[in-house]
Amino acid sequence: MKSKILSALREAPGYVSGQELCDELQVSRTAVWKVINQLKEEGYVIESVPRKGYRLVSHPDSITAEEVKSRMTKELSDWKIVYYDEIDSTNNEAKRFAENGETQKALFIAEQQSGGKGRRGRTWITPRGSAIAMSLLLPEPEIAPDHASMVTLVMGLAVTKACREFCKVDAKLKWPNDVVCDGQKLSGTLTEMSSEVDYINYLVIGTGINANVMEFPEELSKTAASLKLLTGKQTDRAGLIACCMEYFAEYYEKFLQTQDLSLLMEEYNELLAGTGGKVRVLEPGHEYCGLSRGINALGELLVETKDGNITQVYAGEVSVRGIYGYV
Ligand code: BTN
Repeated sequence: MKSKILSALREAPGYVSGQELCDELQVSRTAVWKVINQLKEEGYVIESVPRKGYRLVSHPDSITAEEVKSRMTKELSDWKIVYYDEIDSTNNEAKRFAENGETQKALFIAEQQSGGKGRRGRTWITPRGSAIAMSLLLPEPEIAPDHASMVTLVMGLAVTKACREFCKVDAKLKWPNDVVCDGQKLSGTLTEMSSEVDYINYLVIGTGINANVMEFPEELSKTAASLKLLTGKQTDRAGLIACCMEYFAEYYEKFLQTQDLSLLMEEYNELLAGTGGKVRVLEPGHEYCGLSRGINALGELLVETKDGNITQVYAGEVSVRGIYGYV
């Protein structure tokens, strides 16, 4: 009910009468009044004028489930949204839910992570009030285990599109799923999976976005960027999370239709950074250079080597670096 009241207040050009809210939500005046008071306690400034109703004056920079739901333009009713003020890692929490039998698709959001995890065992820092840490849980997805890594590209594409549309930045993809702008990293995704040989128990896709982060540790200062540093504007984090989710839901649907990226690869390749440029492929025990030729329908990066052959690089096995700079 809270998110519905928030949406109604946000969408209204002026005041929304208490009666309108009661009729729309089929609840009593007292119930509406209680929610309005809760919202005020959470930092929302809501004007109440007798015989006119309520008007949302300002909202806190909060990324609670209600706030994110109230920003969605489509109701993603098949998704559960869970918010934490602090958690070790949203990926870990998603896995705990799955291990305890969760069967619904879920989005986990945290204001702060005490043990945020990056790829390859690195740590991922999520400063309170300025970053986005979110994980998607897909329990028992109907996907073959060897196609799971493609979902990570689906998420990368969704986040890139959301950053472009919602924050108006020239965000691009660094294969397979980093989001970059001017060669600096804005977002990264860590995907974890529990599976049998032919069956996925669950998939967890965790994404961190540097939304309003203003400072990075010394070692990241040249390679990381934030949306706020790029635009000079405060990013509305709840709105961006909602936009990422809507794109993910749309693209994931397309992915499930074909079980690969054939309906998405054109859009992915348009947004892929460094196509035609040199890349260095770092395979365990083997390293080679070539020209990036975009991805195929399996999400593999096509690399043209000196002899004109095209190699297909599978996400997860190797790391790819641009010869110059981070991208
Ligand atoms: C990377 O190394 O680029 C991946 C970073 C992934 C970070 C996100 S933040 C939300 C989720 N929870 C985690 O512990 N990690 C992922």
